[in-house]
Amino acid sequence: MSAFPDHVLNDGTTLPVIGLGTYALRGIPGAEAMADALRQGYRLLDSAVNYENEGAVGKAVRMSGVPREDIRVTSKLPGRHHKKPNVTWAIEESLLRTGLDYLDLYLIHWPNPSQQLFVEAWEGMIEARERGLVRSIGVSNFLPEHLDQLIAKTGVTPSVNQVELHPYFNQAEQRAADKARGILTEAWTPIGKGTALLTEAPIVAASKKHSRSPAQVVLRWHHQLGVLPIPKSANPARRAENLDIAGFELDAADMASIGQLTRPAGRLFDGDPRTHEEF
Ligand SMILES: NC(=O)c1ccc[n+]([C@@H]2O[C@H](COP(=O)([O-])OP(=O)(O)OC[C@H]3O[C@@H](n4cnc5c(N)ncnc54)[C@H](OP(=O)(O)O)[C@@H]3O)[C@@H](O)[C@H]2O)c1
Repeated sequence: MSAFPDHVLNDGTTLPVIGLGTYALRGIPGAEAMADALRQGYRLLDSAVNYENEGAVGKAVRMSGVPREDIRVTSKLPGRHHKKPNVTWAIEESLLRTGLDYLDLYLIHWPNPSQQLFVEAWEGMIEARERGLVRSIGVSNFLPEHLDQLIAKTGVTPSVNQVELHPYFNQAEQRAADKARGILTEAWTPIGKGTALLTEAPIVAASKKHSRSPAQVVLRWHHQLGVLPIPKSANPARRAENLDIAGFELDAADMASIGQLTRPAGRLFDGDPRTHEEF
């Protein structure tokens, strides 16, 4: 059982405080890694149509022995299916691939502003939720102006916005914008892909001070910002490490020094939603 209460979304559903990223966990080894993660205590699997692993996600849920109702499964609508009539069958195909009766959370993966179809996609997502195909709906990589278009045109606010977020790019403005609209922010690439970020002086200093690993410090930093991180690991020991962010607390000085790593060009991936599009 988690040491922390779940996040309660604006539609009344819940998510745990940390999830497992599943990008590149595919096939039977991927399913085994995800099932093991569920047995280790993970309760949220973050997938997407474009990760080509929804089959492995469903298999992991069934193999894990964890009751379905205790697990949250996320998938994401790809840019090629933003036209409203496509959204329903795209979600139905996600269900067929996973073999699950419903998904917990479905996100529009990228706004793809040049297509100008994300409001249509959102209308389709609202219908899918009404039909019970998905329990909650949200977005990923949405800027405040994209959120406002959805809300103004449909009256329905996303429950989640999943964005690139780590100490090099702390998304202070986006977090504030999400919070003001009642949207939970999720962090992708939360530990900066486990590379240079984990050797930065403020993170190493906090790691020594609290006798925790650098990754645990970074994931705790997310948690204290009110953000839900979804670190990926194919390695059982690192998965256990990443899940264990209880039992210590970063103080204001730790939070401030880690926060100072943020820089305007801090994205680790060329993923500015104004220009980056995925289909
Ligand atoms: N919505 C979007 O547009 C979007 C974009 C990108 C990603 N995502 C989601 O976010 C998830 C996480 O992002 P990510 O996979 O890019 O990056 P990440 O979770 O920040 O880092 C994963 C990398 O760090 C390594 N690692 C994991 N735990 C570690 C630890 N404790 N110490 C050192 N290294 C560690 C992993 O290697 P091992 O596997 O070998 O442990 C892997 O190479 C994805 O899997 C995906 O679900 C969403």
